[in-house]
Amino acid sequence: MDNFVFRNPTKLIFGKGQLEALRTEVPAYGQKVLLVYGGGSIKRSGLYDQVVTILQEIGAVWTELPGVEPNPRLSTVHRGVELCRSEEIELILAVGGGSVLDCAKAIAVGAKYAGDMWDFAEHKAVPKEALPLGTVLTMAATGSEMNGNSVISNEATQEKLGWGSKLAYPAFSILDPYYTITLPKEQTVYGMVDIMSHVFEHYFHHTSNTPLQDEFSEALLRTVIETAPKLAGDLQNEEHRATILLCGTMALNGVLDMGYSGDWATHNIEHAVSAVYDIPHGGGLAILFPNWMKYNLHHDIARFKRLAEKVFHIDPSGKDDETVALEGIAALRAFWSSIGAPSRLADYGIDDSQLETMADKAVRFGPFGNFAVLGKADVLEIYRMSL
Ligand code: NZQ
Ligand code: ZN
Repeated sequence: MDNFVFRNPTKLIFGKGQLEALRTEVPAYGQKVLLVYGGGSIKRSGLYDQVVTILQEIGAVWTELPGVEPNPRLSTVHRGVELCRSEEIELILAVGGGSVLDCAKAIAVGAKYAGDMWDFAEHKAVPKEALPLGTVLTMAATGSEMNGNSVISNEATQEKLGWGSKLAYPAFSILDPYYTITLPKEQTVYGMVDIMSHVFEHYFHHTSNTPLQDEFSEALLRTVIETAPKLAGDLQNEEHRATILLCGTMALNGVLDMGYSGDWATHNIEHAVSAVYDIPHGGGLAILFPNWMKYNLHHDIARFKRLAEKVFHIDPSGKDDETVALEGIAALRAFWSSIGAPSRLADYGIDDSQLETMADKAVRFGPFGNFAVLGKADVLEIYRMSL
């Protein structure tokens, strides 16, 4: 186990009826609010009305930034930054899924920076200041509600880059499972794939003596695997929604990877695909992750074998380690297919015409991955395996 410092400043407000907490949380940061939301799901679900009623009743003055895209765009961030300046915004309130939250984080740091927020994504500058951010999450997936990360797409350059800052953690996040029940099945499945993928990104590491961390990861994976089929067959079930919502937060809030660093190559490989084809992040991960696993099996077969046994309950008797490991990966693929996730790039109409472009984007900052360091040729091979 490596030395580590853990500090997560986000106040997590979880459960039914917790939207009411806006009444005390918002005034703690100011009166002038920028309300950021997506393409309309919060209006259809009634959440928008409930939020603005509370804002009205507590005397807040708000400006709206609607229409944040899935895979949020830099131009939308720029619009938000301008609104923060012209309206002298004191608090950003993001209501929606990970894209809305990520966009709001970029606005929060962009509003306090004289240059272009994209400088942070390109590692040309580091945020020094940010507006406070509160969130109401409507979709279990990214963990953005309790981390300092954000992923922004620059439509002009067809790039999708992640960035992070300790200033980008939400000050508070309200998670009521009730507001996730309107999420369609397809998005629900993508979210669950993303959650499991975050655990996999952690799980594949070479640090020794991490027994508790590995057990935490395996427990989280088993919980999603047990709950996912039940939720996929009963989307209105608030208990299953609550379980998955908590899994999503715990999968990427810094708790799982205390004392070691995860891999994170597959996320980079996926972001390059969605930069070019604008596909859903969870769909891309479902296609790519089992192939990343097969490609990198030889880096530590015992680790893959452990995953197969402890998470996918593969019986190892009479089999060599590699066979058990491969059966685990096949079980993952079968599980994701069983809940309706895609398995090939062709499922999104993606052929081999842009593989070079995507691979170049993936290696833009050089070789990457901690469990297995990948260069362009490796990325190309994983794309080919995924066609
Ligand atoms: O835009 P609206 O109308 O709100 O609809 C959204 C959107 O179309 C809809 N939706 C969300 N909640 C809903 C709902 N529809 C009905 N009922 C609800 N309760 O779902 C669609 C997808 O939403 P989006 O926010 O894009 O999904 P997600 O939460 O998966 O976020 C994806 C983005 O997050 C990035 C991804 O790359 C992608 O850009 N990531 C961010 C991370 C982070 N900040 O830590 C880590 C992740 O690995 C990921 O890369
Ligand atoms: Zn992800």
